[in-house]
Amino acid sequence: MTRLFEPTRCQVDPSTGAMGNATGSYQKRFLDLDGLYADAAAFEAMRATWGERIVYEVSEFRPTEQPGDLIFGVTRMAPGKVGDEYFMTRGHIHKQADRPEIYYGQKGHGLMLMESPEGEIRILPVHAQTVCYVPPYWIHRSINVGEDDLVMLFCYPADSGQGYEIIARSGGMRSRVVTGDEGWKAVDNPDWRPRDAKLISALYARQSRTVPA
Ligand SMILES: [Fe+2]
Repeated sequence: MTRLFEPTRCQVDPSTGAMGNATGSYQKRFLDLDGLYADAAAFEAMRATWGERIVYEVSEFRPTEQPGDLIFGVTRMAPGKVGDEYFMTRGHIHKQADRPEIYYGQKGHGLMLMESPEGEIRILPVHAQTVCYVPPYWIHRSINVGEDDLVMLFCYPADSGQGYEIIARSGGMRSRVVTGDEGWKAVDNPDWRPRDAKLISALYARQSRTVPA
């Protein structure tokens, strides 16, 4: 018997990043992002003023986690920097690594930083009304390089899942985004370590699409 779900509409407020009819939400406070940034001393210096403040938050509509279904929502990220490095999300790869994602800019000036399993980097600016396609297999993280909130809508297959450890195991993403002479610039992350061939082939494996533990 088919279980029929009720169609839903969610109103998005681009100015605040709020989404009506959300089924869930979460916030990342500054303290939750310890270890993400290159400049640990700058992070410590900001702890007193920023500690409990929200760096980014997500409201989502998650009907089910069944293959073929969709999860969508809105993310809002505050502007700011730790040292010279812009505020960013933790970043992830989809546990079902062949699952893609769409981001749609609503407000502000952001970047989508993407890294392939082999360590190739792509950086795409996302502004209001920019649609950004994150293809399967790319690790992705969003970065706020503007002076205002960055608000984006996202949508991905409901069975994607999110794997965070792949970034930590490599010593971070291969590029960091910092202030440059004219806006932002990407610099190499000296702590980055390449993934071994076994992990890369496991990520691409057709039979086992789940990120290895
Ligand atoms: Fe994602």
